[in-house]
Amino acid sequence: LIYPVILCGGGGTRLWPRSRKAYPKPFLPLIGEQTMLQQTMARCADLSIFAPPTLVAGADHAPLIEEQVPGLAEGALIVEPAARNTAPAVALAAARLGPEAVMLVCPSDHHIADVGSFHAAAKDAATLANEGWLVSLAITPDRPETGYGYIKLGDPLPGGFAVERFVEKPSRELAEQFLAEGGYAWNGGIFAFRAGKLLEELAKYRPDMVEAVMRSVAEGRVEGTSFHPAAQSFFEIAGESIDYAVMENTDRAAMVPAAMGWSDIGNWASLQDALPADPAGNCAPSNAQLVDCRRVLAVSDGPRISVLGLSDVCVIVDGDEVLVTSRDAAPHVGKLRGASEQ
Ligand code: GDD
Ligand code: MG
Repeated sequence: LIYPVILCGGGGTRLWPRSRKAYPKPFLPLIGEQTMLQQTMARCADLSIFAPPTLVAGADHAPLIEEQVPGLAEGALIVEPAARNTAPAVALAAARLGPEAVMLVCPSDHHIADVGSFHAAAKDAATLANEGWLVSLAITPDRPETGYGYIKLGDPLPGGFAVERFVEKPSRELAEQFLAEGGYAWNGGIFAFRAGKLLEELAKYRPDMVEAVMRSVAEGRVEGTSFHPAAQSFFEIAGESIDYAVMENTDRAAMVPAAMGWSDIGNWASLQDALPADPAGNCAPSNAQLVDCRRVLAVSDGPRISVLGLSDVCVIVDGDEVLVTSRDAAPHVGKLRGASEQ
């Protein structure tokens, strides 16, 4: 069985005003009725493939998680006293699960249209992970996006490839060069590891992190569905992402191509791309009338939105906030005062 480890960090300013500090992306129903977290859980619920999930989240969001995903096992929710990025979050889960567990690390804010392909890729990745590879589910890139990790394909392996080179968040120039060169994929941010192997590799590059994580788990305590790592040791942990701490450094990285309709829904325009649209490309899941419009997204939690004669815009109404942005500027919503000061 594969052990799902679901990461529920904060952030998500680029989906302001809907995503706010108290209610970031994983806890919102952006596509369909369920929240992103609930959909992530549902994808890992097939008991013929997956063991019960482990979640890792900040203390601020623990109550929201209990509310949205009732019925967690005892100690299944690892509660972080503060955010330390993904390497410590993954290491905490690895330490809890024990060295032999094959874990599948899943961000809780991705959309995956084709769950069957996700399951197939997860199984291939788990097989490689069991042999000691650190496996990323890889996505075919279609633009020089600088917010992702880039993987250069190496020698073929069963179900995938060894990774020749892993570059996290390259410059624009480098990303364009990778696309032109070919043979690169995006890191989808979904990883399969044998827990012991992950900790072994992490200890090569970040020994202090592993030491503090192991101590905080050894001294931690279970309280109902929550597991609380010991705060004193936890606060010694330096924050870093798994991509920089391990994937860029290890020579045991591998990848499994996953054509699964993946999107990380980074901003309103990418949400629009993942939602069903009418023939003019308009998308109005809530109360809205779009007349003589093309590629307009209108999302409201109350008032009706009426748009006439515009193209390539997103209009978002949420509580006492209204956002109007071009699709091109949607990745830069963090520049707005409300988004950065929430
Ligand atoms: N528990 C916990 N604690 N979760 C966290 C923390 C933390 O401190 N920080 C981030 N997360 C969660 C986020 O909620 C998200 O679900 C996931 O971990 C990944 O973190 P992001 O901050 O969204 O990473 P990213 O998007 O910049 O980059 C990663 O994902 C890309 C694909 O979306 C990298 O893995 C890239 O290489 C990858 O291409
Ligand atoms: Mg992300």
